[in-house]
Amino acid sequence: MTLASKTRNSKRNLHLGNVEHWEKTDFGISGKTSNGFFKITVFEHDTIRIQASQEDTFFSNPYSVVSQPRHEGFSIEELDQLLVIKTKTVELKLFLNPFHLKFYDKNGKLLNEDDPSFSISWLGTEVTNYKKLQPQEKFVGLGEKTGNLNRAGKAYTNWNTDYFAYGIGDDPLYMSIPFYIGIHDEVAYGIFFDNTHKSVFNFGASNNRFMYFSAEDGEIDYYFMHDDHVSKILSAYTKLTGRMEMPPMWSLGFQQCRYSYYPESEVLNLAQTFREKDMPADVIYLDIHHMEKYKVFTFDNEKFTNPKAMITKLKEKGFKVVVIMDPGIKTEAHYAPYVEGLGKDLFVKYPDGEIYEGQVWPGWCAFPDFTKEETRTWWGEKMKFYKDAGVDGYWTDMNEPASWGQHTPNLIDFHYEGEIVSHRKARNIYGMQMAKAAKEGSEMQAPNQRPFVLTRSGFSGIQRYAAAWTGDNVSSEEHMLAGVRLVNSLGLSGVSFSGYDIGGFAGEASKSLFARWISIATFSPFYRAHSMINSCDSEPWSFGEEVEEISRNYMKLRYQMLPTLYSHFYKSTESGLPVAKSLVLDFPHEAKVYEEAFQNQYIFCESLLIAPIESTKEITKVYLPEGDWYYFFNDQKYSGNQIIYVDTPLSYLPVFAKAGSIIAMQSAISHTDATHEGVLKLHIYKGKGSSTYLHYEDDGFSKNYQKAEFFKREITWNSDKQELQFGPVEGNYESAFKEVQLYFHGIDKDSISLGDQEIKGEKENLAFLGRLTEFDPLPDYSQPYYEVENINSFRFTHQSDEFKVKI
Ligand code: NOJ
Repeated sequence: MTLASKTRNSKRNLHLGNVEHWEKTDFGISGKTSNGFFKITVFEHDTIRIQASQEDTFFSNPYSVVSQPRHEGFSIEELDQLLVIKTKTVELKLFLNPFHLKFYDKNGKLLNEDDPSFSISWLGTEVTNYKKLQPQEKFVGLGEKTGNLNRAGKAYTNWNTDYFAYGIGDDPLYMSIPFYIGIHDEVAYGIFFDNTHKSVFNFGASNNRFMYFSAEDGEIDYYFMHDDHVSKILSAYTKLTGRMEMPPMWSLGFQQCRYSYYPESEVLNLAQTFREKDMPADVIYLDIHHMEKYKVFTFDNEKFTNPKAMITKLKEKGFKVVVIMDPGIKTEAHYAPYVEGLGKDLFVKYPDGEIYEGQVWPGWCAFPDFTKEETRTWWGEKMKFYKDAGVDGYWTDMNEPASWGQHTPNLIDFHYEGEIVSHRKARNIYGMQMAKAAKEGSEMQAPNQRPFVLTRSGFSGIQRYAAAWTGDNVSSEEHMLAGVRLVNSLGLSGVSFSGYDIGGFAGEASKSLFARWISIATFSPFYRAHSMINSCDSEPWSFGEEVEEISRNYMKLRYQMLPTLYSHFYKSTESGLPVAKSLVLDFPHEAKVYEEAFQNQYIFCESLLIAPIESTKEITKVYLPEGDWYYFFNDQKYSGNQIIYVDTPLSYLPVFAKAGSIIAMQSAISHTDATHEGVLKLHIYKGKGSSTYLHYEDDGFSKNYQKAEFFKREITWNSDKQELQFGPVEGNYESAFKEVQLYFHGIDKDSISLGDQEIKGEKENLAFLGRLTEFDPLPDYSQPYYEVENINSFRFTHQSDEFKVKI
């Protein structure tokens, strides 16, 4: 009996066993145990890969990891019954009898350890790694998972699932990201389990002995990451699995969706209404009714007689169009994509060669095998159809893949880049490969245009191809807050560009719910309203005048904040860190961050603390972390490290600016291509020490930024010295801002000096911040929120040289 069949046939848990032999390799060690094989690779000083297999070959998921091990210094020491592998950041002890691992930080502090009795084990084909639970250990991440920020005591399954109107505790949803961060006793580590089979992460549910991660089949293949800051762990994970590319500027604007807008007159009316109502917006979506019989790569010529002309008119109004693309290809004779797919052997098949068919919107469908390169290329070629009509973005939906009945047979075959595997191994990766096809298809059709793809399904690495939204949520207060947690969790798992359907997809939002939801979403990376068929109208003007005014104010605020938002998207492409950042990233060891009352709070663009709150509440508790904070709408200052109570009338979401930060704004515009006033409005908040804002601009749509066509400069605010330093400009793009205007918060000054020159302050009535001085009577929400009188401001020409402003 071979080792593999021995383990597969075992009816009881089979441990990897004792190490019988080991040897040094280029990047670590490999060896044989009594019941399998193992390999340890030092990827980087902070990242170590652990593999264990039943056979003498190791499999690598070809889809997620994009980096290679580097020759980082490490040492191996052989002690009695023990090997010690050390990098400058991590120490790994491998105990030989039986095989089990313990990870330490550079000071010898325990980070993570296997349960010695079970460590890596098999039960049939199921493979598991058992880890001891550390005292008070908290777990965060795992991407699009419902529940609390701290996942301790719960178990989660990774199996991409179409889940209409999911409950706020339901699992699994559409996307799987098997990466989590463990936090305890002032230390933290990350584990990415790179196995695409259905997997389970049990963080101490139904037992008090261990946490484990297991997969139905395949191997143990995980990356252990550690550094002295949680952010660095997340950066290490995104170095492994890649980071988002700079999205087009328009995709940061407001987006309006509906299942479905048609005919074309309705779409044009919609665009016109946004402009007439002075509500900024950039994108309109065409959901499934734009197609003839729901067939991808078609337009319904009755509903849309001339899509190209319609899209041209929309563009004249400053709108981009995003179309939905579902994977299912209707099995209809003479329908070109079906005929071609058959002819070119591009569909998923049963093992006997027959095409697999499942039912989705068009009826019986064949499914393109996106795990095959030829299929992805073909799909990209088909996208010419949309490009010719003027479409700018793509929405890959139903790509779990979904089908009625929700039970795709496991035996069907997928190409998996030549390996030929069953649905069990391919399902979780399918959606990501469809998103890849869409991204690369967009690039094939318009090589110098930045693609925009929105996906429902995905796996680790999806951030390289698409933005994500959290699927079919429900119009309820709990769902609104659960959506914030989902987005924050995606951000903790490498996906910086994500959002939820504002107002809720299923059900009907109350007036107040919609108002609150759009306010919160103003501070979400992806900003889109969407709702399902047969529900009431849910455009931001459909809920009456008050909601319309509130929506307009927040939508305008979003557009005013674009310089900051765009710059932080750029930063995220460089660091892999989220734009909407759960407090856990900066304050991992602060117990309050995990409390139910505060777990939804997050930092947006490094400078704003957002405290999401139900629309039904008139007052809320907010946890202010260390440092000082300014209530965004009236500059009231609070010291941090305390819990405060804040009134929450519908028009004011609790938002606080961090003392010491710089927030860059511009004049409100109706869409991202519209011309602003050309004044970069820097809001400077008094604080302690110094902080740097990296200001980034480029043309917003092409790939020229990759050839240094950008404008980038660090602006550092030293609160102690009261000095603002404009660093050297990098890149060859000319800034769209001709002037800089400084607004001081918490600083009272009549003059500043710019270089040698003193400038007197003009106490103008400035078109910006915070009318709100008191809550009672309720503020007049028909006014812009951002109109503060008598804040000192100074305006001067934007210079391309370095310069200093002394305050
Ligand atoms: C399911 C998606 O989640 C939803 O957003 C979309 O409107 C429908 N499919 C119809 O295409």
